[in-house]
Amino acid sequence: MRVLVIGAGGQIGQALVPALQARGDTLLATDIRPLSYETDTVLLDVRDTEALRKLLHQWKPQEVYHLAAFLSARSEEQPRLGWEVNFAATWSVFELCLEARVERVFWPSSIAAFGPHTPKHHTPQYPPMDPTGLYGIAKLAGERLAEYFFRRYGLDVRSVRFPGVVGPGHLPSGGTTDFAVHMFYAAAEKGTYTVYLESDTTLPMLYIDDAVRAILQLMEAPAERITVRSSYNIQGLSFSPAQLEAEIRKKLPTFRCAYVPDFRQELARSWPESIEDTPARRDWGWQPQYDLPALCEAMWQSVPLRS
Ligand code: NAD
Ligand code: SER
Repeated sequence: MRVLVIGAGGQIGQALVPALQARGDTLLATDIRPLSYETDTVLLDVRDTEALRKLLHQWKPQEVYHLAAFLSARSEEQPRLGWEVNFAATWSVFELCLEARVERVFWPSSIAAFGPHTPKHHTPQYPPMDPTGLYGIAKLAGERLAEYFFRRYGLDVRSVRFPGVVGPGHLPSGGTTDFAVHMFYAAAEKGTYTVYLESDTTLPMLYIDDAVRAILQLMEAPAERITVRSSYNIQGLSFSPAQLEAEIRKKLPTFRCAYVPDFRQELARSWPESIEDTPARRDWGWQPQYDLPALCEAMWQSVPLRS
């Protein structure tokens, strides 16, 4: 399989690229900035339509994984740029993939596409969606566009609504769920951490290995199994900052958090606490493997502890 990964330098790209290589794919990675790991790379701004067109026609990928994005907090700080990367460039990627006869496209949406009128618990696949943040607005628009490109042009776009992704080796920035990674590193290095959310803000989360497995399973499923052409709900686990703090304290008993909410609190409160994911389980066999103890165990295998 010839594969192009756009936005390969981020949290998910760094984990997805080795998984695609392990599957035997011939892979080209692109990002706007140099990657922190070794692989064949072309630097590219995904908003540069002509450069992307040229690359697609030269590389001729069968699959494209479009991961370039401005996450939720960064999109609030730079809304116009956020829209350009998260929505306008996604439109270009879909158009150019159609033109270059790409067989399958993966583009992730987010739980940020839900809003204050979305049911908070066991959020169904098709609830009311009224995102308040610009990132969520762009994700919801992107979901509608993905379905439109499938129905109107037959482009095989596949998507999941990722919850907060947690994994080692990459300190995420610009998101509302970043605390769930940062807390481990702060606990190991300093023994304290200041959370920018209220302690009881429960959010859906997913361990990175589950996130990568979801992408691979979805992309490997036969097209006729894919009944959701906007974006699939997937549930991994759910926890609040206080629950994560308590779990980390089992390993580091003196660890303490302070809670100083900022603008990210409002975004987090507008998102669901848990997700109902029957269509993903039924259509392509989604089954998460990590609960909170397993996630922590996996993180402690990589996060260096102070001696
Ligand atoms: P990230 O912020 O870690 O990585 C995004 C990458 O996009 C970065 O390497 C960045 O350099 C690149 N990028 C930004 N602007 C670009 C541009 N103009 N041209 C080319 N590249 C550009 O994000 P991530 O966590 O890896 O997320 C990947 C995808 O998954 C995104 O669509 C994101 O919205 C989605 N998602 C992530 C999470 C999460 O918790 N990580 C949750 C829900 C959805
Ligand atoms: N983790 C992402 C964020 O917080 C959710 O899409 O922005």
